[in-house]
Amino acid sequence: MEKKIPVIIDTDPGVDDALAIMIAAASEKIDLLGLTPVDGNVQAVHTHQNALNLVSFLGIDADVAEGSYDQLVYRFGRYASSTHGETGMGGVELPVSNRKFHKLRAWDYIYEKAKEHKGELVLIAIGPLTNVARTIIMHPDIRTMLKQIVMMGGSTEAGNVTPYAEFNFLVDPPAAKVVFESGIPLAMAGLNVTLKTGISFDFIADLARESGSKIGGMLNELVHGYSDVKINKEGDRSSVVHDAIAVAYVIDPTKCETEEKRIEIQTDRFLEGTWGQSKVVDGEPNCTVINDIDMDYYRELYRNTVDHFSELN
Ligand code: RIB
Ligand code: CA
Repeated sequence: MEKKIPVIIDTDPGVDDALAIMIAAASEKIDLLGLTPVDGNVQAVHTHQNALNLVSFLGIDADVAEGSYDQLVYRFGRYASSTHGETGMGGVELPVSNRKFHKLRAWDYIYEKAKEHKGELVLIAIGPLTNVARTIIMHPDIRTMLKQIVMMGGSTEAGNVTPYAEFNFLVDPPAAKVVFESGIPLAMAGLNVTLKTGISFDFIADLARESGSKIGGMLNELVHGYSDVKINKEGDRSSVVHDAIAVAYVIDPTKCETEEKRIEIQTDRFLEGTWGQSKVVDGEPNCTVINDIDMDYYRELYRNTVDHFSELN
């Protein structure tokens, strides 16, 4: 069997984060070492507790290393609780975990694991990039240690909070700028791919009914407690599980269409309207931009997740 990919997921759970974490934890291709929560969809106190609750509920031995409760420079202070629910899990009440955080903070944890996994560690970043930027600032030599940072964030088209900026990058544009200027191999699942590749509600409902399992019911409950809804590229009413696309790319990049682009993050306060924009510019590419994904493959990941956790009670 192929060697598993060592992965840390930096995350602001968040309903779509939770689904992405489940898909990653169920994949036989991924060795999910840990989660590093960050302030984002909801207040950090909730994203941190949601991360602990998720690893306990799933019964996985992934670490949870405490991340940022703020942003790098400018406090954002606006949350997406209208989309993800007050505590971020779409109204789903997971049992409260009594697990403790890892002894290291997120930025030191990522660095230690990067050293341990010598060039093999993939960091999947599906929330604002505050923790990731702090890791690069505090441990600059990590830039030669990480295999890749695969983000859900940004957009090569319009934003979803302002006309120009996507939520994860807008929460902390200076952090996103640090990441895109780091020289670390990057891949970006932006709104240009996530908004058209939602998972259909009918598919999730059928999966839940056919499996009759707790995890199947949980997926169905999560997508119904989450208000990011679009008609996907197949014409189905779907739940826009943005973050799962980043995980799907790591599991099998051959199932995605990509382009090499140069992306710059707009942090010029005098161009206020474009604050946090991920702008495609001329020049040496610094990012693999994900533009599409095979939906049959993508649905298979949900089936695998329900099968893998079917024994959960
Ligand atoms: O814009 C979508 C992104 O913002 C997703 O990661 C979602 O979880 C929120 O963090
Ligand atoms: Ca997220």
